[in-house]
Amino acid sequence: MSSTQALVSKEPLLENIKVPKHIGVIMDGNGRWAKARGLPRSEGHRAGVESVRRIVELSIRYGVQCLTLFSFSSENWRRPPEEVNFIFGLLRRFVASDLARLAAQNVRIRIIGDRDSLEAGMKSIIAEAESKTAANTGLDLIIAFNYGAKAEIIDAVKRIAAKARAGEIDIATIDEATISQHLHTQDLPDPDLILRTSGEMRLSNFLLWQSAYSELVFVEESWPDFDEAVFLRALQEFTDRDRRFGGVES
Ligand code: FPP
Repeated sequence: MSSTQALVSKEPLLENIKVPKHIGVIMDGNGRWAKARGLPRSEGHRAGVESVRRIVELSIRYGVQCLTLFSFSSENWRRPPEEVNFIFGLLRRFVASDLARLAAQNVRIRIIGDRDSLEAGMKSIIAEAESKTAANTGLDLIIAFNYGAKAEIIDAVKRIAAKARAGEIDIATIDEATISQHLHTQDLPDPDLILRTSGEMRLSNFLLWQSAYSELVFVEESWPDFDEAVFLRALQEFTDRDRRFGGVES
């Protein structure tokens, strides 16, 4: 099978599975999942929150260090306002219902994306989730919300340029690390694996800089159908890949 084909069901082989340090997830297909069941799109998003809970539990159980979930992109504002409001409400309710448990499970929550343009209520929920878990040392749960990778890179370039103008950065020394340190993901490892559900095969403005050497795994299941079998299949596919980072086979 070509590595760019979306994966179809097959039994996971659990021997010698490699667990990625950082998994990024494009949680796609909520709308189609709902439509196929004659339900409103909002029901797909609601079911998607259950999959969020499942992947957090699986990540903790299998020892993933860092999990980044693409929850709302800067392009998702193009959706009908009712759907946008519904997704915002889901994040609000998720924090209200799950924060205490996640904190007790030693999960550290971080939200990346443009938070300045969010309304005050949303900003304070984000601040609460981050501050209540800031000292935790277990799974890093990064929620990309109102996030777009191009905007993140533009923001980094502006801040680097401002520092250069102020004489704090010598332009000749700007390198990959300089850019990485000015992204929202500054102190996180780059994702080893990016998983996208629902058979679509693109990055959709998710972690563009950070995914330079990520393995991309596409599965046919919609996000609400994500479960342990899908997770293990993605890990198996990741394990089977030969990561050369531009070098030669080891
Ligand atoms: C993509 O499916 C999904 C989204 C844009 C929203 C994802 C949000 C959640 C799963 C819930 C909120 C998250 C947290 C962390 C509580 P789509 O609507 O584009 O599906 P389609 O391509 O089938 O239309």
